[in-house]
Amino acid sequence: MASPLKRLITESDRYTESFKRYKECSVGYQGMQKFMENLVPDLFASIVNGKSQLNVIGVGSGTGDIDLQMFSVLHQKYPHVTVDSEVVEPDSQTLRIYRDLVSETPSLDYIQFHWNEMTLEEFQKQWKEKKINKKVDLIHMFQVLYFAVDLESTISFYQSLLNKNGKLLITLLSCDSGSVRMREAYKNQLCPGETNLSTGNIKNLLDSKGVSYQSYILPSDLDITDIFTEGDENGEMLLDFLTNSYHFGKTASPDLKAGVMEFLRRPDCSVESDGKVNFKNNFELLVLDQLI
Ligand SMILES: C[S@@+](CC[C@H](N)C(=O)[O-])C[C@H]1O[C@@H](n2cnc3c(N)ncnc32)[C@H](O)[C@@H]1O
Repeated sequence: MASPLKRLITESDRYTESFKRYKECSVGYQGMQKFMENLVPDLFASIVNGKSQLNVIGVGSGTGDIDLQMFSVLHQKYPHVTVDSEVVEPDSQTLRIYRDLVSETPSLDYIQFHWNEMTLEEFQKQWKEKKINKKVDLIHMFQVLYFAVDLESTISFYQSLLNKNGKLLITLLSCDSGSVRMREAYKNQLCPGETNLSTGNIKNLLDSKGVSYQSYILPSDLDITDIFTEGDENGEMLLDFLTNSYHFGKTASPDLKAGVMEFLRRPDCSVESDGKVNFKNNFELLVLDQLI
């Protein structure tokens, strides 16, 4: 039976606002700072390796929060290194926020930005058509490969762009995260035909092709307390993001809504204390090197 639900990603305004609320409630996103402090300096040490300029591609960069945090770590450690950054983001409103932020921040003058308002597939096509042969030192895809049409060709294309010592960073939800398990349990209603729900598929693909990678779990809790307050706007936005459904609360059948709400609160998904419901929603980071 066809799903009556509309995918949230097709409604730009609500997607952007829901993602913003999700980030605000996600310890994982706040905890991204830990990733920046612990892993990124080592990654840059091997990428920079005496270079004075890095070529970077940010795929699905959103409003640029993660890009700019990484550049800040780089600049603190290697102030002499300049950056050439291709930003790939199909949503015009989101890209506008990133561009405005950059134009209001003169201290980013060590980075040259190239704005590509397009999908990762369109960027791939354009790169091939223009026969660009530049090699890239860092490519990152944070929370983006859910939307890739063809995982295999996407990963192999972007990995083929890597320079010696270059790194391709991919993060998605990890297989054990609550929202992945919830979406798998309600797959037919919530995400028919969607296969890229977590890093699981990517790891299976890389393993089957013998491509090596390193993996890091980025522990993350999400405060979903508001979801259980009827009519709470923040809760409705979070629920939309977790189900990738536009106005899930208003459009899902009562049975589906009740099932999802119950699933989110299961003891193996959430910890409840002091009136808060903290949902386990880990991310996984995969780091790929240049293919030899
Ligand atoms: C969950 S957000 C992640 C944004 C950012 N990377 C971060 O982690 O803060 C997903 C982003 O992917 C973008 N996106 C959706 N489909 C895409 C596609 N086919 N190619 C590239 N980006 C896409 C969305 O517009 C959105 O900005």
